Amino acid sequence: MDIKISPSVLAADFANLEGELKKCEAADLIHLDVMDGHFVPNISIGIPVIAALKKVCSIPFDVHLMISHPARYIKEFVKAGADIITFHAECDDGIDETIDEILACGCRAGVAIKPNTPAEAVLPYIDRLSMVLVMTVEPGFGGQSFMESTVPKIAQIRKAAPDIDIQVDGGINFETIKTAAAAGANVFVAGSAVFNSENPQETIEILRKNAQA
Ligand code: DX5
Ligand code: ZN
Repeated sequence: MDIKISPSVLAADFANLEGELKKCEAADLIHLDVMDGHFVPNISIGIPVIAALKKVCSIPFDVHLMISHPARYIKEFVKAGADIITFHAECDDGIDETIDEILACGCRAGVAIKPNTPAEAVLPYIDRLSMVLVMTVEPGFGGQSFMESTVPKIAQIRKAAPDIDIQVDGGINFETIKTAAAAGANVFVAGSAVFNSENPQETIEILRKNAQA
């Protein structure tokens, strides 16, 4: 599987997002966390910010929707520049309908599951998905510690879906990336690890090397 590193802008300097993205030229994707203060107890960025960043960045946008009603906003996120949209299996909209809407907009679809949600919540949909996101922390905040309890679930999904992209998000650093990769993950979100480092470019390269090892 191709290893992909997706820096999460949530940990970047919001006063200078263009400059922060310029430090990430080695990234395969840019991870954009959208929170509505309802599905998760936090509010982050939305459609206008994504649309503005699209004009200054040519790396594909990996949009992570932590919102209760993703289906009604899909068209706008695609128009804003999302290349893949991941929503949560635990949201209040139908999973099939939301996938339909994403695919109908010509976008790639992903489904995310929280740490306590079993793999079975996503497995029925994998044929229509480009990616499954296994949250390795409770969604809502950056800077939390990687939950080892999620590792067997990564392996279970990899066994059921040998060719799908499996993304992990939360607490990914130089060490935990090895654990997640060994279990079968191949797409790695990293917020604090990248943006709190002296040299984001070099950090991305080290993360990639550690995932390959
Ligand atoms: C958390 C977000 C993550 C977050 C990860 O709900 O989905 O993408 O930015 O941050 P770190 O890498 O700092 O755990
Ligand atoms: Zn995320």
